[in-house]
Amino acid sequence: MIPILRLQHVTQRFGGVVALDDVSFDVLPGQITGLIGPNGSGKTTAFAVVSGFLRPTEGRVFFEGRDITGVQPHEMTRLGIARTFQTPQLFTSLTVRETLEVAASAAGNEKGFEGALRTASDIGLGSKLEHLPGELTTADTRLLEIVKVFATGARLVLLDEVFAGLSSTEIDRTAQVIRRYASEKSFVVIEHRMRAVMALCEYIHVLVYGRLAASGEPQEITSNPEVIAAYLGAEELAHA
Ligand SMILES: Nc1ncnc2c1ncn2[C@@H]1O[C@H](COP(=O)(O)OP(=O)(O)OP(=O)(O)O)[C@@H](O)[C@H]1O
Ligand SMILES: [Mg+2]
Repeated sequence: MIPILRLQHVTQRFGGVVALDDVSFDVLPGQITGLIGPNGSGKTTAFAVVSGFLRPTEGRVFFEGRDITGVQPHEMTRLGIARTFQTPQLFTSLTVRETLEVAASAAGNEKGFEGALRTASDIGLGSKLEHLPGELTTADTRLLEIVKVFATGARLVLLDEVFAGLSSTEIDRTAQVIRRYASEKSFVVIEHRMRAVMALCEYIHVLVYGRLAASGEPQEITSNPEVIAAYLGAEELAHA
């Protein structure tokens, strides 16, 4: 099976900081993959490299077998890769409906708009389509970021801590939507809350200090001594 995403010896330096250190991993199509690790371990940097916001200092990135290293972000979106941002990036002057329309059309996926509207309703944004971002709660802003990514029609969806600020009900509702789409899309999910990661992800990669420290199924990851020592901590594991 051709991985939908492959990082091959990717290194990203910022001056003296090595944010990613010779990282290689695959993401299989149709899976929900977790990308976890302590603060500053390089997770968001990995998303920036995959989505074209950063050109890696070294290494290659492949999407569906094709070398996409250094492709510009807008072109990545057209190829089928879309990300959310840890701090939502929305146009303040566009309503929810307009945001989805623009996202679909910028990706050359006009027909994705109708589907995005339906998804927006499914996750509780239906009554807020005419609202501006400034009128949305934190949770609704997160949800809008997710639906906006869906509107692009992306086959590879990168979600950067989209559960932050959501209640457990909202997390469940959002996770359901992600699962529903997982048959047609591949997800990579950055998330700190272990319970959500373990429940949602079928496979997990762990970054520690920019290095890939472990990869495996949730059970393997929670019982990996290096991961426990570096990141999870006994208490969080017990509640996972
Ligand atoms: N544009 C940048 N310029 C300089 N240093 C950066 C830049 N982006 C990230 N870094 C550094 O690279 C390292 C990895 O950062 P990154 O944001 O990828 O971590 P993260 O795993 O997403 O952390 P968090 O869980 O806190 O979001 C950190 O040391 C960070 O300070
Ligand atoms: Mg981050």
